[in-house]
Amino acid sequence: MEDNKAMVIFQPSGRRGEVPKGVTLIEASRLLGVDIESLCGEKKVCGKCIVRIEEGHFEKYNVVSNMKNVSEWQEEEDKFINEEAKAKGFRLGCVTTVQGDLLIFVPEESRAGKQVVSKAARDIHIDHDPAVKMYYVEVVPPTFEEPTGDFERICREMEKLYGLKDLKLDIHTLRQLPMALRDGDWKVTLSVWMDQEIIRVRPGKVEHAYGIAIDVGTTTVAGYFCDLTTMEVINTVTLMNPQCKYGEDVMARITFHMTTEDGLKRMSDDIIEGLNWLVDQAIQGTYPPKKKKKDE
Ligand code: FES
Repeated sequence: MEDNKAMVIFQPSGRRGEVPKGVTLIEASRLLGVDIESLCGEKKVCGKCIVRIEEGHFEKYNVVSNMKNVSEWQEEEDKFINEEAKAKGFRLGCVTTVQGDLLIFVPEESRAGKQVVSKAARDIHIDHDPAVKMYYVEVVPPTFEEPTGDFERICREMEKLYGLKDLKLDIHTLRQLPMALRDGDWKVTLSVWMDQEIIRVRPGKVEHAYGIAIDVGTTTVAGYFCDLTTMEVINTVTLMNPQCKYGEDVMARITFHMTTEDGLKRMSDDIIEGLNWLVDQAIQGTYPPKKKKKDE
């Protein structure tokens, strides 16, 4: 291992890896994918980032972890950690820096992340204006006398019925079109993005479509999974905003972005990952549970 690096292991997650010496324990946790609470955005005022340095030789990881491998005690820590806790190895994660190999325990109350926030489903009004809409179209089959192409036929009907002009579609959707038209006996349902681009073609008349309205709050992110034909909310899923670990309020997060080189990207990646998880949960919660095979 290089001299300027140290091995750090976080418990109970078991995540470990080499980090540059001199980074704070919170920075080390982020480098290794561990979420430690930092409601004040590492301004040393919330006291939520307390962790415990474990002392001893940990054979499993082949590391010797002790208090010499962290920076000296800082007076900001006095506010949050009393003498008894200090003697047990508790330190403030945003103040203490890595100076050598460490095994760090993150107590339950200092863990941030994807706790599911209990928020009951409720009747909410959602305007029916989805980005993707479905349009049902019937076209006249081509003949020798009138051999216009499939796409041109569709465009003609879409303009006539719905007033949509200059529709585009990519090569993948174009390939679906001839088969869908013939399978559907010249009747198809088109999914159109922003009334500009056909993104899916299905044979026949498709009645139902589903969508999710997402409310990204400072603390909570909620997803309302809807039947787009009735606008009924059929499942509500929530998640603690994963950006909370960068600061409790928007100002703290803006500060994190301004003072951290890739801060914006990290926060953006976290919320995207959170939203993907939310969509998965919404779908799983509405599908019937998968039945186990007999011999499983
Ligand atoms: S005191 Fe708030 S993050 Fe450390």
